[in-house]
Amino acid sequence: MSETSTVFPREPRWEGDGTHRIPFLTYTSEELYKRELERFFYKDHWCYVGLEAEVPNPGDYKRTVVGERSVIMVRDADGTISVVENVCAHRGMRFCRERHGNRKDFVCPYHQWSYTLKGDLQGVPFRRGVKQDGQVHGGMPADFNTADHGLTKLKVATRGGVVFASFDHEVEPIEDYLGPTILGYFDRLFNGRKLKILGYNRQRIPGNWKLMQENIKDPYHPGLLHTWFVTFGLWRADNKSQLRMDDRHRHAAMISTRGQAGKAEHVTQVSSFKESMQLNDASFLDIVPEPWWGGPTAVMTTIFPSVILQQQVNSVSTRHIQPNGHGSFDFVWTHFGFDDDTEEMTQRRLRQANLFGPAGFVSADDGEVIEFSQQGFESKPFYRTVAELGGREVENTEHMVTETLIRGMYHYWRNVMEA
Ligand SMILES: [Fe+2]
Repeated sequence: MSETSTVFPREPRWEGDGTHRIPFLTYTSEELYKRELERFFYKDHWCYVGLEAEVPNPGDYKRTVVGERSVIMVRDADGTISVVENVCAHRGMRFCRERHGNRKDFVCPYHQWSYTLKGDLQGVPFRRGVKQDGQVHGGMPADFNTADHGLTKLKVATRGGVVFASFDHEVEPIEDYLGPTILGYFDRLFNGRKLKILGYNRQRIPGNWKLMQENIKDPYHPGLLHTWFVTFGLWRADNKSQLRMDDRHRHAAMISTRGQAGKAEHVTQVSSFKESMQLNDASFLDIVPEPWWGGPTAVMTTIFPSVILQQQVNSVSTRHIQPNGHGSFDFVWTHFGFDDDTEEMTQRRLRQANLFGPAGFVSADDGEVIEFSQQGFESKPFYRTVAELGGREVENTEHMVTETLIRGMYHYWRNVMEA
């Protein structure tokens, strides 16, 4: 590809049918980004909104997003979970400002229109006008019907304590959306036990949202970028491992089992490995295997387009991708445990959570490489990346030395975006 081709192309130029060369433009075009919002976040897809344990009691709510749209996940008096759009039916205001709270109804402060927790309009001040000098003045038209002016209601799916929502009421069932293979890994983590929220991390990463999906579909980098992982034996290129995708290649799971091979320097050429380094506090790696793991010590699952499910030894979290523009997204980590965890296990999960999040021993660098990749893309959007490790095909594998999951995601992307 020539360096002098159109500097600012409008449509990505792919090389043939493959996705082993990814145009920089897929990360830099605001126009493509708007199309992604429409096709991936607002139609045909399920997006993660939260965990049921975040809203345990009737009236509890959490404000979050689907794509760029503000939504509220709320538990009604009858215990069911609704998701409604945070846009008043009157003048379009984002009426809910708090991140979390408990309410009997929602009231927009602008003109005090009030809604039930399910989003039905129940009160309009001065709907019948005011009486002056024996006459009624103003008010809404006689045919104004509150039933026509509720909040936008999203379709909701809950499974294993996880809540997904969609603006598209025709979307397929969540089980079909995930497909049997990814559903198996989903159910491994969320197997019906009650969840316990341990805390949040939030960060804004100045890069395209897809880069975070790709980061967790990329088993090439952890053993190279994350020196901490390598030095302390949590991730090695020769770990016993598997990569699995759904039939449409949009979701994926990276499954690995640590500690089955010799010392790192015998099998890798990783310059960052330092045998002399020791942890001052060994309790960071006080790993206790849990029965539900069923073998693997780490399973990282990407659910397209909005969430990553993390199990790294005893640390478990969801990581919510919240795009805001083609070159930026918020990344919200919800660290959790299980209701039947001992206090010791809760403390262990919290300690191990230090590996992750915006300042995590193995995650701060992910945010940085995404930022610096975006900088490269913006400077020459006619160019492309190379994702040819492990060949040019898309396939499930029994090893980690491949970029096949990234190629798979872009096959799906091309199908949906260019249809
Ligand atoms: Fe990483």
